Amino acid sequence: MLAGKHILLIIGGGIAAFKSLDLIRRLRERGAEVTPVLTRAGTEFVTPLSVSALAGNKVFQELFDLGDEAEMGHIQLSRIADLVVVAPATADLMAKMAQGHADDLASTLLLATDTPVMVAPAMNVRMWEHAATQRNLATLRADATSVVGPNDGDMACGEFGPGRMAEPMEIVGAIEAHFADGPLQGKRVLVTSGPTHEPIDPVRYIANRSSGAQGTAIARALASLGARVVFVTGPADIAPPDGVDVIRVQTAQQMLEAVQTALPVDAAVFAAAVADWRVEGAGDRKLKKSKDGLPSLNFAENPDILKTVARMETGRPLLVVGFAAETDDVLANATAKRTRKGCDWIVANDVSPETGIMGGHENAVTLITDDGPESWVRMGKDAVAVKLAERIAEALGTK
Ligand code: CTP
Repeated sequence: MLAGKHILLIIGGGIAAFKSLDLIRRLRERGAEVTPVLTRAGTEFVTPLSVSALAGNKVFQELFDLGDEAEMGHIQLSRIADLVVVAPATADLMAKMAQGHADDLASTLLLATDTPVMVAPAMNVRMWEHAATQRNLATLRADATSVVGPNDGDMACGEFGPGRMAEPMEIVGAIEAHFADGPLQGKRVLVTSGPTHEPIDPVRYIANRSSGAQGTAIARALASLGARVVFVTGPADIAPPDGVDVIRVQTAQQMLEAVQTALPVDAAVFAAAVADWRVEGAGDRKLKKSKDGLPSLNFAENPDILKTVARMETGRPLLVVGFAAETDDVLANATAKRTRKGCDWIVANDVSPETGIMGGHENAVTLITDDGPESWVRMGKDAVAVKLAERIAEALGTK
């Protein structure tokens, strides 16, 4: 519930602005007060009257509106809320935020505010994928802005791909998670999850059997304890949890870049099943059968993401947790892995096919810390996640 919470909702100029009307309703149903701000471009998509009527509040539009300034100055407006939400956050608004522009009411409020900011990007897929937008996104993340969406899907412009604004209920989920009370309130935690896909050619790739279930459950459990979770996921079978900042990647190299973008964090949990090797020189042409025999693939070693972060000299997370997927000598291998990688804790699990753990619903883990190994009884992956999240909260509480 959001009773008593005050949201300053900035509605940018994109077709997704119509979803913001529903967002206002959903927020108010949960007891939040919504003060809407509509950009000039936003008025091309929704009317001030409908925004104001749904919000049950005045809609603010112009920076130099004498009436508004007399009633509530723009600096005061930037401070009234518990959270500023930008939905839809257009490419232009994100660029202004990243650069610190203040040339209209919305950008001025965003520059003047000392309140946490959440953005729900919405734009054409090419604009989203453009290097400039991705640079701006990285800057916003580094400035501690939380990001919800965008999702993949058909777009109003007729193209398909990432760029669709998150659905109103996903944004509500992220807002509720932001306000979730718990021992991890105010902490930022990174979770990697799922497999990676390493291309062989444009149509084939090397993958593994990770479903992403354990990493997803951990991200959900951490968010429910109040953490702000950055969830870096490979192409997993399971949808990411609501209320976390999702960064989707395909390859190990992309996962490392996404992780580096997400830092600094208080704690990092590396649950992804990262491919150890990639195919060197994977080109953009399909490998063809040939009379000259079978093709040969040359492998190159992928970066070790866990080790890179665990061994950082400056800005290392206070707590770095790795996983060890083993098929034999589980304890000995995992203990050696913890030392080799330099992480604080390692969660060891036996992924031999007969255990049914990889891709299944249960897990039997041993947590290895400075105090030695601690075996947990076999339980659901959700229960392992809750227990691990509680241990992380305890550990961060004492650091
Ligand atoms: N990991 C990583 N980057 C890699 C490989 C692994 O971040 N390139 C992380 C995993 O997310 C996990 C831990 O390292 O937290 C151990 O992964 P695992 O697959 O068990 O170990 P490997 O490093 O692959 O070692 P080995 O091949 O010896 O089992």
